[in-house]
Amino acid sequence: MPDDSNAFDWSAPRREEVGRAALQWTLDWFNGVGTRRLYPDVKALRLDHLASSALPLDPGDPLAVIDEFASQVASGSRDNGHPRMFGYVQSSGTFMGAAADYLASALNANVTSWRSSPAAATIERQVVAWIKQMVRFDGDGLLVSGGSMANFVGLVAATVSAHPEVAKRGVRALPGEPVVYASDLVHMSIPKAAAMAGLGRDVVRRVPVDASRRMDTEALARAIDDDRRSGRVPVCVVANAGDVNTGVVDPLDRIADVCRDRRVWLHADAAYGGFAALAPSARGLFAGLERVDSMSLDPHKWLYMPVDVGCALVRDASALGRAFSYSADYVDVVASPDMSQYVFWDYSPELTRRFRALKIWMALKTYGVRAFAAAIERNIQLARRLAALIEASDDFELLAPVPLSIVCFRYTRGDDLNSLNRRLMLDVQLAGRAYPSNAMIDDAFALRACIVNHRTTEEDLGILLDEIRRCAQSSPSPPPDLPVSR
Ligand SMILES: Cc1ncc(COP(=O)(O)O)c(C=O)c1O
Repeated sequence: MPDDSNAFDWSAPRREEVGRAALQWTLDWFNGVGTRRLYPDVKALRLDHLASSALPLDPGDPLAVIDEFASQVASGSRDNGHPRMFGYVQSSGTFMGAAADYLASALNANVTSWRSSPAAATIERQVVAWIKQMVRFDGDGLLVSGGSMANFVGLVAATVSAHPEVAKRGVRALPGEPVVYASDLVHMSIPKAAAMAGLGRDVVRRVPVDASRRMDTEALARAIDDDRRSGRVPVCVVANAGDVNTGVVDPLDRIADVCRDRRVWLHADAAYGGFAALAPSARGLFAGLERVDSMSLDPHKWLYMPVDVGCALVRDASALGRAFSYSADYVDVVASPDMSQYVFWDYSPELTRRFRALKIWMALKTYGVRAFAAAIERNIQLARRLAALIEASDDFELLAPVPLSIVCFRYTRGDDLNSLNRRLMLDVQLAGRAYPSNAMIDDAFALRACIVNHRTTEEDLGILLDEIRRCAQSSPSPPPDLPVSR
């Protein structure tokens, strides 16, 4: 039998060779940002084979594996750092963020508790404190995988804080039918969170919005009062602090008044918009954010961190404990008096956790928070500039106000504008020079540009519009030859 007892730990020279190859690829990738196709030419590069190769039984050459990654995986991927990646809410990533993620994996800290990872746990506490400072919030919290998980944590904390028995007996312990209030623009992660929390998706009651698509606070107050009178149980109000469609920030201060007067938990979904509180021109929109009971934030959106890292914050630190703490013999904290007893598993659904804080810690120490604030402010100014270019044109129209960095618009030369713009979005994406996504604004299909990339410049805005015009003038593309999903 071959001796394969040390199949994993190569010699130091071999490690160096492989490490250098990985580093070289990383350098080439970052040096080439903005010069590659944004979206891969999937017609030429068929990917099916990546999902149908045989299970590797024997060792392969690691350098060949890295080559395969470069030639098949990287080149078959959307370049999310590209300055004209305008789709969804896609962070641009930074070199320090990538380096930190690599170091975190090398260290392989398991951030379950202080005892398991003393320094990593301490760094996470530091990063959470810095994040609180950045959004001017007093409370506590922890890092999670993203905004969806942070919204889930907030919703469970809301439910259990008002009705502690729910932690034990589930929604049977509620004295009536639960209701969660949110505007029509609420992100899908909220109904999903309600479903996961056992409340059910249908508990989300849509509160009307005003002309600027912000939650109508009088309608909210009426809905809560009516529900109470009918024996229903208002569990939580979810306010948008930057909605995913257009960037609307609900009137947080007035919503906080309604919630305070009626003793209802207020959660802000600040996953996209929250860090814009750092930008002087947007700060005013976030008045009242300091009054919410919980919020979700996503450093892997507008703090330019590589995925994944989200953050759940609560004003009353014990709320997370009520919602999530549970002990078992195998996680008993056996510590000496000079060790911290802090454990993360009491504050979220997760036990094993990667060292997500490292990238934020290293990036903030390297670039400084002023650079982040300036980049976010630039993104906002660019969004306003794009809106102005659209309004000054005679072939585009703006479909929604631009409170933060999302611009919803459409091309107007043609009939059936919804089909035309749907076609244009796909054609522009597949051409690989720019990547808008979409939103529905009332009944209109909108092209949507979300600028959360520190590399985007004014020139990129012109290229986006010209690319849409170019696609409008060329014949419709054949149906895309996208990889088969399995
Ligand atoms: C407003 C808002 N909330 C929540 C989420 C979900 O965040 P994640 O994708 O990190 O789970 C998003 C994602 O785009 C979002 O824009």
